[in-house]
Formats: sequence, structure tokens, C-alpha cells
Amino acid sequence: MVKKNTCVFISGKGSNLRNLIYHSRNNNFPLKISLVISNNKKANGIIYAKKFKIPYVLVNSKLKYYENKILLSLKKYKINFICLAGYMKIVSNTLIKNYPRRIINIHPSLLPRFKGLNTFSRMLKNKEKKAGCTVHYVNEKLDSGNVIIQKKFLIRDNDDETILKKKTQKLEYKAFPEAIIKIFRNI
Ligand code: GRF
Repeated sequence: MVKKNTCVFISGKGSNLRNLIYHSRNNNFPLKISLVISNNKKANGIIYAKKFKIPYVLVNSKLKYYENKILLSLKKYKINFICLAGYMKIVSNTLIKNYPRRIINIHPSLLPRFKGLNTFSRMLKNKEKKAGCTVHYVNEKLDSGNVIIQKKFLIRDNDDETILKKKTQKLEYKAFPEAIIKIFRNI
């Protein structure tokens, strides 16, 4: 199998990155993680890039043309697929146009419910019965592209934000690789 050269975008902890790296080491997994891009030089996820000797690029998203550096890096490493894994910036239309149906994101809610930030506090405030995660294609509108996979669980009375996050992330580690396998099975 020819694996897709993939870049994972991160901003923080990087537990989904670690999980994708782990899966990508399986010969049957469709992706090779060839590059990591972080807009936060202190992102913990960078340690996984270092540990597994994956090239990484830091960008300063406060600079006006920081996406040019991203585009050049993607070209340099011949990237043909992108996973957003806790990347806290909105990607530009230029990037989306360069990678049509080739950028996916993982979001900690059952989209289209609770787009954007602070999903868990809003769910609790709203007395939601279900929570979960969504893997979806990225389009020009925030958290609005076609859904690839969702996984859900029932919220219990004692669940606070920390517990919801823990339960959601446990599902994310299954959903992200499953979504990727599903995409490439259909191509
Ligand atoms: C994940 O929960 C994901 O849903 C959201 O950001 C979080 C990133 O976590 N988009 P990590 O950095 O992969 O640990």
C-alpha cells in the first residue's frame, strides 16, 4: 500500500497526534505522518514529533503571512493529506482550495451541535443527554464540513467538564483512525 504523506496540525497536548503516529506504524494504515505543524512553540505534541523523528515546523500565527510558511512546508514534504488535531486556528480558504477533501478535523462534540470552543461547559449548561466526538471534512465554515464519523456516549449526572473531556478523548482515539480508514477504503 502506498501511504499518503500526511501532515498533522497541532497547538497543544498532542494526544491525537500520538495516537495517529501509533496507528500509522501499522503497514495497513493508509497514512504516513511525514510532518507536524504547530502554531504554538510550547505545544507538548512536539515531543512526539521529536520522539518519532518526524520533521516539524513551528509557525507564528501572529504574523500576517504565516500561512505561506505552511504552504511551502507542505510542498517541501510533498504532503497530500492533512489532519487537524487540536489545531486552534482557522485554516484559510487558500489552504482548503489546495487540499480539496483532503483536510479533516476532529471536534469534541456531536456536530452540528456545539461548534467552536468550550463545548463541554456549554453541553452541561444546556443539560445535554449525549456527548461525543466528530471527525469531519474541513470547509470554509467553522466545524461545518461533511461528517465522516461520530461516536457518542450518554452523559451521566456526575459528569463534569473534566470527565466529559476524558470520555470524549477516549472515543477520539478510536474515531480518528477509523475515519481515516473509511475515507481511503472508499477511494
Ligand atoms: C481534542 O479533544 C479535539 O477534539 C479538539 O482538541 C483536542 C486536542 O487534544 N479539537 P490533543 O491535543 O490531541 O490531546
